[in-house]
Amino acid sequence: MQSLDAVSSEIIDAIGAADSLDALEAIRIDALGKKGRISLMMRDLGGIDAEARKQAGQALNKAKDEIAAAIEAKQTLLASAALNARLSAERLDVSLPSRPEIDARLHPLSRTIEEVIAIFAEMGFEVAEGPDIESDYYNFTALNIPPEHPARQEHDTFYLPADANGKRKVLRTHTSPVQIRTMEANEPPIRIIVPGRTYRSDHDATHSPMFHQCEGLVIGDGIHMGHLKGCLIDFCRTFFGVDDLPVRFRPSYFPFTEPSAEVDIGCTRNNGALKIGAGDDWLEILGSGMVNPRVLENCGYDPEKYQGFAFGMGIERIAMLKYGIPDLRTFYDSDLRWMRHYGFLPFDAPSIHAGLAGGAV
Ligand code: DAH
Repeated sequence: MQSLDAVSSEIIDAIGAADSLDALEAIRIDALGKKGRISLMMRDLGGIDAEARKQAGQALNKAKDEIAAAIEAKQTLLASAALNARLSAERLDVSLPSRPEIDARLHPLSRTIEEVIAIFAEMGFEVAEGPDIESDYYNFTALNIPPEHPARQEHDTFYLPADANGKRKVLRTHTSPVQIRTMEANEPPIRIIVPGRTYRSDHDATHSPMFHQCEGLVIGDGIHMGHLKGCLIDFCRTFFGVDDLPVRFRPSYFPFTEPSAEVDIGCTRNNGALKIGAGDDWLEILGSGMVNPRVLENCGYDPEKYQGFAFGMGIERIAMLKYGIPDLRTFYDSDLRWMRHYGFLPFDAPSIHAGLAGGAV
């Protein structure tokens, strides 16, 4: 049988040679485990006489302690070697260029709506909303467009299937019904703008079945055409960023306003290129007028007491003009290349103090 010294030095050598924590654990079990070589020698002590047992016992305990200490030291060594290996394998090179950020853009329609809101908010307007699915009453009748009125035909309305009472709701053809809803629910003074989706059965380079409008309504005591003109001239000049932009009010007709005016802005056209600003041509950008007394009456207001003005504009149209977007249908194509070209960085919020100028075509 091998002497204790020989066994123990063999084990110590093996510990020294162990190249992994697993190998070291196998050595530990082989030496100090229940059936390990040292443990078995301990058990065999029972068979020898007392004096010899004492000596051999001491020697065995010493060997056992030495082996345990060697294992522990080697364990520390292997663990730190393993850590170093991991650290260098998983090294992070902070000098590498960062991954490109997701370059999200704000859609030009969202941006245009934000700009319109910012300008009117500065004049004390609040934003109001209404449903996309409207009753015939709010979309037409209350706005002085009774059944059989020719204006109904011009709207290319989408009708929903009739309900149990035979009534057909519509996808609102303009944001004007929100005028009625707001007047019904509030007392004057009223000063609202209503950005929102609108629908008409129409599809070409300048029309889409779903599009956006922004309505405006001001009701108060003694509101007159001068207020309408001042408000809309300010809006046009701020929105297009042209201080001396000529603005023209051209007589027109809308059932819900009397008198009515279409608003044109000055421009020049040069070989197909359009430039907004003082020039020899005009561009229609919105409809407006003094609220028809019949509409005020429909909402329970006394037209002798309250007057007001209203206006409505197409968001796509003013966005196309300001940002030089030639085809309205591209707004809804979800083409990322288009978005990178025409979109806006989300944190570049519009502020009229910073000036909304620039970008005018
Ligand atoms: N609702 C009209 C349209 O869709 C736009 C409009 C014109 C709204 C004149 C108004 C207004 O409030 O006064 O064509």
